Amino acid sequence: MHLPNSVTIVEVGPRDGLQNEANFVPTEQKIELINRLSESGLGCIEITSFVHPKAIPQLQDSEQIVKRIERKPGIIYSTLVPNEKGLERALAAGVKEIALFVSASETHNQKNVRMSIVDSLKGFRNIAAKALAHGILMRGYVVTAFGCPYEGRIAPEKVEFIVREYQALGVHEIALGDTTGMANPFQVSQIIQRINPLLGETDLALHFHDTRGAALANILAALQEGVTIFDGSIGGLGGCPYAPGASGNVATEDLVNMLQEMGIETGIDLQKLIDCAKYAREIIQKDLPSHLVHAGKVCWEGI
Ligand code: COA
Ligand code: ZN
Repeated sequence: MHLPNSVTIVEVGPRDGLQNEANFVPTEQKIELINRLSESGLGCIEITSFVHPKAIPQLQDSEQIVKRIERKPGIIYSTLVPNEKGLERALAAGVKEIALFVSASETHNQKNVRMSIVDSLKGFRNIAAKALAHGILMRGYVVTAFGCPYEGRIAPEKVEFIVREYQALGVHEIALGDTTGMANPFQVSQIIQRINPLLGETDLALHFHDTRGAALANILAALQEGVTIFDGSIGGLGGCPYAPGASGNVATEDLVNMLQEMGIETGIDLQKLIDCAKYAREIIQKDLPSHLVHAGKVCWEGI
């Protein structure tokens, strides 16, 4: 089996995870979760969104979050930005990396951001020019890249089109999102093989939701295709409020456990991550789908 030596994990729980929680999580607790995640060895944390507070009420405290977290040197703290207004807010708060997002499905994009795909991409041109002028790093998400709850199959050409647009904008990383867990390992390999030749210097990240239990299998397929950046959500928190049936991303601690057990370096302290997942469970006051929170680390010494 051909596998990379090391992998970068992007923690998206505070954004992708919490955005779907019905009960407002107090700002202090969100900050505490992010601060604890910062201590686990993660290199990149997506901490909140500068979207319309009515669209995602849970993340209406984004300015506070960005200003009040304890920033650890070397960690990239990223925020989601849907439009120019979002960028203005992110710049004013002092953000250093933003994540743009557009869906490969026209219907999902309309429901998510009330714009066509082409209008989203047009808007990104001004955003990218301003962001680059301010030295801001940009990640570009292709949402519903593997399938859409409204439209079903997504033609790979649609994903390729958005990848090319992102390339032209100067993003440093493109993340393909399986928003409602429709992907399978065979399809994952096929899409990566199509996208890889377009990427040049741009990094490829994969963002799997575990809606149907296939996220780790999909990640294994992607590892074998040479992908080394994966998103996870602490405890398996999450979902997209504009995609019916969406559930959380693969739990970060389950992913880190699988990688470390295979000898792949992540730089993360797994026990600290499990403790973060337990804290996430405490603040949302319900159980989480994480396996490691329930089973704990593998103990090769026996009990
Ligand atoms: N932050 C705060 N307010 C915003 C905003 C932003 N990023 N973008 C627009 N607004 C405000 C405008 O200033 C305007 O305010 P006004 O009525 O006081 O003048 C109002 O919202 C309407 O602006 P408009 O551009 O027409 O936005 P919209 O209502 O069509 O909403 C989005 C578009 C993109 C802002 C909204 O759909 C959104 O935030 N979606 C995010 C969905 C999401 O995060 N999904 C999960 C991630 S996959
Ligand atoms: Zn997601």
